[in-house]
Amino acid sequence: MKVTIVGTGYVGLVTGVCLADTGNHVIGLDVDADKVARLSRGECTIFEPGLTDLLQSNLAAGRFRLTTNLKEAVEHADVIFIAIGTPPKADGSADLSMIERAVVDIAKAVNKHTVLVMKSTVPVGTGARVEQLIASHTKHPIDVVSNPEFLKEGSAVDDFLRPDRVVIGTDSEYAATLMKELYAPFVRNNHPIIVVKRAASEMVKYAANCYLAMRISFINQVANLCEKLGIDVDEVRTGMGYDARIGSHFMYPGAGYGGSCFPKDVQALWHVAKAAGIEADLLRAVHEVNEQQKGLLVDRIRSHFGDLKGRAFAIWGIAFKPKTDDIREAPSLRIIEGLLAGGATVRACDPKGLDHLKKEFGDKIQYCTDAYAALPGADALVICTEWNEYRSADFDRIKAALKQPIIFDGRNLYSVDQMKRRGFTYYSIGRPPVKAS
Ligand SMILES: NC(=O)c1ccc[n+]([C@@H]2O[C@H](COP(=O)([O-])OP(=O)(O)OC[C@H]3O[C@@H](n4cnc5c(N)ncnc54)[C@H](O)[C@@H]3O)[C@@H](O)[C@H]2O)c1
Repeated sequence: MKVTIVGTGYVGLVTGVCLADTGNHVIGLDVDADKVARLSRGECTIFEPGLTDLLQSNLAAGRFRLTTNLKEAVEHADVIFIAIGTPPKADGSADLSMIERAVVDIAKAVNKHTVLVMKSTVPVGTGARVEQLIASHTKHPIDVVSNPEFLKEGSAVDDFLRPDRVVIGTDSEYAATLMKELYAPFVRNNHPIIVVKRAASEMVKYAANCYLAMRISFINQVANLCEKLGIDVDEVRTGMGYDARIGSHFMYPGAGYGGSCFPKDVQALWHVAKAAGIEADLLRAVHEVNEQQKGLLVDRIRSHFGDLKGRAFAIWGIAFKPKTDDIREAPSLRIIEGLLAGGATVRACDPKGLDHLKKEFGDKIQYCTDAYAALPGADALVICTEWNEYRSADFDRIKAALKQPIIFDGRNLYSVDQMKRRGFTYYSIGRPPVKAS
């Protein structure tokens, strides 16, 4: 099939190369000419396991190419996917202006019956609004379909190749048939392709993300309570997780969720509810608990040290989760801001996220590619992302390099007993603090 992907960021690029890999002829269209040039050379613009190989092999096979030329990209396609960002506005509602501009331009360029697929996460009713927006700009039939994406950064390629389910929102039989054909190679494991009403499909994505975010805020609130009551949240989490109705996924306490999806989607659905006349108090609470959680580590550092002026901190992990270079809304950013505001200095390390971090903080902090190079002379180590390579750390080296053996762990990487045994002062989330004797 001939496919165009509009927007070649995390979702668009993964979608594009995965669809090309099953034999489709795919064009990636982006307004960012530098990104298009780099991707065309086979240079991956994001870090995502397995993506570079897929990009390069499909470029070489001639099944995937990139352009900034909208007319060429639109005329090529039977199916056009929109994978443009939907960032939050100042009030938290979804900003659809980039999408609205793009769909009007696309409608003007369409030269045949075309399926226009919303892969971006968009509020309920957006499909209907897009249909209205484009109606006067084309004589050709355009089926506006919702097809939310559920991939997770860090395992995006794998998630796209083996989705738990594919959700398609449309009333058009023509569009549903095309979409099912496109996805058939990815559901050979008998995972379902679910065809529902368009608005229901739009809601599935928001409801799914909000539910996952709610589990994180829930366990974080339980963790904070556990800490106050002298209980280890790990014991509680384990005891809960074996209940088949609950399970253990997305039940890890930490320094809060980040990324480009959960924070904005929770707020966006809250706005959708408000516009529909419903006060979605639960969603507001999920967001507020997360905001407080992002400040927890800095509060803890302040209460340990008092004045932060002249103190130095080593940060391990910047990305909002491991195996990605994405730092959007990462708790680490809030933690660095808090430390700098208190007059401390920061040396930050992350296996993939440092380039993005430099754009945020410039010369206000120092950057280390080697985790251990961030430590010498620091007052404490602060862990913000659970990268695998931090899990079995060289504790003797950490102890020797820090001024005092103190770790603030926002991801509960180490066991409390281990830290006691090794003589660290250790603060984690929802577990009893350890004081070095
Ligand atoms: N990142 C994720 O993990 C994830 C997962 C599921 C869904 N989503 C949703 O998918 C959408 C895209 O997210 P993302 O993280 O891939 O965004 P992104 O910011 O990484 O990529 C968006 C791309 O769109 C391009 N773009 C903007 N306007 C354009 C236009 N008019 N024409 C062509 N290209 C244009 C940008 O240059 C950029 O390359 C969002 O709605 C997001 O909520 C994201």
